[in-house]
Amino acid sequence: MIPRNQWYVAGYGREIGRELFSRTICGESILFWRTRAGQVTAMSDRCVHRRFPLSEAPTRLVDDQVVCGYHGFTYGADGRCTAVPGQTRVPRTARLTSYPVAERDSFVWVWIGDPERADASRIPRAPWLDSPGYTTVSGMEPLRARFGLLVDNLLDLSHETYLHGGYIGTPEVASTPITTEVDEEAGVIYVSRHMDDAECPPFYARSTGLSGRITRWQDIEYTPPCLYTLHSRIAPVGVTPRADGSDPDAFHVEVVYAITPETEHSTHDFWAVARDFALDDQAVSVFLAEQNRTVVLQDVAALDVLETVLAAEPAGYQELSINIDTGGLAARRLLKRLAEQATPVAAVS
Ligand code: FES
Ligand SMILES: [Fe+2]
Repeated sequence: MIPRNQWYVAGYGREIGRELFSRTICGESILFWRTRAGQVTAMSDRCVHRRFPLSEAPTRLVDDQVVCGYHGFTYGADGRCTAVPGQTRVPRTARLTSYPVAERDSFVWVWIGDPERADASRIPRAPWLDSPGYTTVSGMEPLRARFGLLVDNLLDLSHETYLHGGYIGTPEVASTPITTEVDEEAGVIYVSRHMDDAECPPFYARSTGLSGRITRWQDIEYTPPCLYTLHSRIAPVGVTPRADGSDPDAFHVEVVYAITPETEHSTHDFWAVARDFALDDQAVSVFLAEQNRTVVLQDVAALDVLETVLAAEPAGYQELSINIDTGGLAARRLLKRLAEQATPVAAVS
């Protein structure tokens, strides 16, 4: 079940401009565009007249108004209809559902649910993505699987050893135990795996220039439902952070995912890799972008197959969980809680 009354990443700021842009989020087709002042605006992508998709030509943006390409119903940035053909009176109910939006850290976030409850101060942050101390590469891959499968996948990185061997997986990832912590009040899950002496996978060897064995830390921070960050620390074996907390001899990579349900059975898999080294090295950017996209597509291929199989199973299929699943199970529990909180309890008469 998809939690409502939540912020979800709808796209990157760079995707939304003066062209009409449509994306389905949590089953809702939403039209995005930027006003002349640069503000992102979001409204239903279905004309109230005959439901023509407003993202389809010949619908167009005229100044800050959307003119439906079918019969000309015209809408302002707030979704209100301002003109209809053949009459001066605009029906009072002629209004597109409009969605709260906010831009943060290069993402455009959209609120799905009761607009009265939207509080942009509660959007989880990923400051590395547009911070001057980091260089970021990013993208999005469509996933034909329910978003919970991607959450399971990202919370249990032991799969790197098998599914991503030769890219980011080495034997030590699967063989090193994890620790899991849940901040119930903040609704954040932390999963950590610290490898003291590990093989350096190509992803990090080629990007950092390290050869030989490494200390590799994976510290996951997941704020359900949408934002996931893997704080990754790579250093030569034995190099530890200094007493003052600084860590100049290590390489830091923030691997950020935004997990946005498109429908009950499909997901937008936004990924970004921010690094604090080789900031101006274009070859490193190209390499990391290509590597991470390959890794994401390996997950997509596996999860697409898994979705097909699970969709054909009877409800309540059996699984067997072990220690590596503690993060994923905690995530399922918090997601269920969020989904239940958003469902109004039927009044008892
Ligand atoms: S469907 Fe949009 S004006 Fe008729
Ligand atoms: Fe993966």
